[in-house]
Amino acid sequence: MAGPHTIGERIQAMTTEYIAAVTPKAVCRAADLLQRGEVVAFPTETVYGLGAVAFNSVAVRKVFDAKGRPADNPLIVHVAAVEDIHRIAVRLPPLFGVITARFFPGPLTIIVDKHPDVPDIVTAGLPSVAVRMPAHDVALALIRAVGEPLVAPSANRSGRPSPTSAQHVLDDLDTRIAAVLDGGICTIGIESTVISLRGNQIAILRPGSITKEELEEATGQGAVYADMGKSEVPVAPGMKYRHYAPQARIILAHTQQEVQQRLQGARMKVIRVLANEPIEGAEDVRLLCAATLYAEFRQADADGMEEIVLLCSSDIQGDKGLMNRILKAAAG
Ligand code: TXA
Ligand code: MG
Repeated sequence: MAGPHTIGERIQAMTTEYIAAVTPKAVCRAADLLQRGEVVAFPTETVYGLGAVAFNSVAVRKVFDAKGRPADNPLIVHVAAVEDIHRIAVRLPPLFGVITARFFPGPLTIIVDKHPDVPDIVTAGLPSVAVRMPAHDVALALIRAVGEPLVAPSANRSGRPSPTSAQHVLDDLDTRIAAVLDGGICTIGIESTVISLRGNQIAILRPGSITKEELEEATGQGAVYADMGKSEVPVAPGMKYRHYAPQARIILAHTQQEVQQRLQGARMKVIRVLANEPIEGAEDVRLLCAATLYAEFRQADADGMEEIVLLCSSDIQGDKGLMNRILKAAAG
């Protein structure tokens, strides 16, 4: 059984409370823990987040500790109402109103200038802050019940796939956090699109389910993918870390034939195939899509798979957010 190993971990080990988000009282229980400076995982439409009150530096430190997250990787601050953004950000550019009117609440995170009240630990010392209003009733009810914005990185141990169920959260963080609020399975399955609006320009720092085209259509203005290659410091600090990688080796295939060759050429290996179409001659093909990608990575590891072959059809390649996660997993 997995448990605390070092003396330090043993002292800090706690029982993680499981709270099913089925009554208003359950949400209040989770809110009460957060108000007392504890760390609680909660559902959003993208992935589960690891919440703490954004203005409580001690609680925010616990989020970094529980995840094993490097201190130079800033957190997203979550709000339940657009007005509350004024508590965490200043000098909102004109584009901000246009974009939030169309996409908030939703799977979009916007980088703007930080309010001085936001502790430096939240933004890893940066002068900017990431804000998001999740489109998830349980998340919104929780933030309202707490009455404060919540920081929430994905509720996984650093380097693991993001969790899309309460069970995934417990698999990674049991005994390391006070509670998990179970609101079912996340529908989108990959993390929010992250954009920067500093200088009133739209730069996409992390692709997601809200696309470049949707942002351009909503604003009548061009958007660019931030080029991390040219900069010493990646624009989204988190993008430089190993991410989303299962234990199994990831192999990318582009045609049915390539998948079949892989299966034939490696008879002894335990191989899982993910694709969005049936593969001739292959029995055990699981669906490749954003909603279940991370769950499939976790399942493949649990089943002892040595290799995961992903068929990147043209549809899949057209989904920039999904391809970004697949390529990162393959690079890990
Ligand atoms: O869908 C999501 O965004 C989920 C849910 C829980 O809301 N959260 C999430 O958080 O994915 P996290 O911490 O795993 O990813 C946040 C990303 C990181 O790549 C981080 O470096 C970047 O956003 N980020 C945060 N603040 C930033 C800032 N001020 N400037 C640039 N990038 C920032
Ligand atoms: Mg993350």
